[in-house]
Amino acid sequence: MSEVAKITLDGETHEFPVVVGTENEKAIDISKLRGTTGYVTLDPGFKNTGSTKSAITFLNGEDGILRYRGYPIEQLAEKASFLEVAYLLIYGELPTKIQLETFENEITRHTLVHEDMKTLLRAFPAGAHPMGVAASLIVSLSTFYPESQDPNRNKEALNLTIIRLLAKLPTIAAWAYKFSKRHPVVYPKNKYNYVENFLNMMFQLPTEDYEVNPIVSKALNTLLILHADHEQNCSTSTVRIVGSSHANLYASISAGISALWGPLHGGANQAVIEMLEAIKADGGNIDKWIAKAKDKNDPFRLMGFGHRVYKNFDPRATIIKKAADDVLSSLGIDDPVLDIAKQIEEIALKDEYFVKRGLYPNVDFYSGIIYRAIGIPTEMFTVMFAIGRLPGWIAQWKEMLEDKAPIGRPRQIYTGPNKRDYVEIEKR
Ligand code: ACO
Repeated sequence: MSEVAKITLDGETHEFPVVVGTENEKAIDISKLRGTTGYVTLDPGFKNTGSTKSAITFLNGEDGILRYRGYPIEQLAEKASFLEVAYLLIYGELPTKIQLETFENEITRHTLVHEDMKTLLRAFPAGAHPMGVAASLIVSLSTFYPESQDPNRNKEALNLTIIRLLAKLPTIAAWAYKFSKRHPVVYPKNKYNYVENFLNMMFQLPTEDYEVNPIVSKALNTLLILHADHEQNCSTSTVRIVGSSHANLYASISAGISALWGPLHGGANQAVIEMLEAIKADGGNIDKWIAKAKDKNDPFRLMGFGHRVYKNFDPRATIIKKAADDVLSSLGIDDPVLDIAKQIEEIALKDEYFVKRGLYPNVDFYSGIIYRAIGIPTEMFTVMFAIGRLPGWIAQWKEMLEDKAPIGRPRQIYTGPNKRDYVEIEKR
């Protein structure tokens, strides 16, 4: 007989089914709780709440496991290309050679963005944060492609939206940066692969194309794969919840980009470098900053340390640390900010405060270091994360729609005043 959970309320016992996932993850299905008992659950931050069943990503924070569609992240990061992983996440299986070529070709053919987009770009002030610009431009794509506005229209239309998103986000990202600097934009070039094309749009010189540095493009490919999905995190849950109202995919992804922007989520990679620069400007006294992070009366936290789910180690951080070491040694980078990063890592990994709380460098700690080493401007770091996370957001949104998920609408426990009568303004 399958397991049940019993909850006793007001002297009455109610039974709820236990759901078991393919990796033996267990959940109490309380979807009938309110109807049966009148109670709801209270779980701020959803720390104990499964919002959905999902066949996309398996993550075990205790054992440091991360798999996309069953494939270990370590194998994908070493052997696959980012678009191969994107295909896997979105369509459920690794592509055959022909499927991958078709997918890559389709994406390559859609990398241009409408010239009218430049009018929008011009309207942003110089120095506009590229995350704000990217979120705005992604949602505005829905107005250029109105057929996308009904997500239930047909499979072909949806697929074209998926291709357009994957193709255009790197162009939009690079153009957002170029416009913020008031530099001329660089158009996508079909001779490059996905990663190289982005690097060219960022770094092409006035006189010549970007000369692809294989160390840089490999590191970027790895970084994008490591970011490609992470099950029901803040931005992915946002994408699902926006999409659950049947808002179109562009609108849902734009909301995901906004959710990612915060320093407690994707914005942490930018915050890491800003923190390291602040420490350097303050004279490089690392002990002082470690003490600040440990002081409960000080709001300062060591950015790039800690994770909601990984409390032992983040398997992505292990891969990325190696990539960071490779990039720094191959490029012969000598950067005092990166030296501070290394010292902080060394001290914190041994410090009892961090060890006891399971606070290890997360993926953002090392990704910030790699981005800096390969010349990506600091304000673009979170945009890089968004480019990486895009296939995961799309896959999760598509799964949500295919599973006919109900509109996301949590309950609350009201703690405000009881009913009271309106008082005329003169009498207040
Ligand atoms: N520096 C110092 N202390 C920390 C840090 C940190 N970076 N992170 C957590 N702690 C401490 C908390 O003060 C708390 O201590 P206490 O038990 O003595 O009160 C304990 O560790 C647990 O912290 P919580 O905030 O409860 O952990 P939670 O799981 O809610 O938060 C989070 C995780 C948001 C990632 C947090 O560790 C943090 O703010 N880290 C810095 C920001 C960061 O790097 N974010 C990127 C996350 S990865 C990503 O989104 C891709």
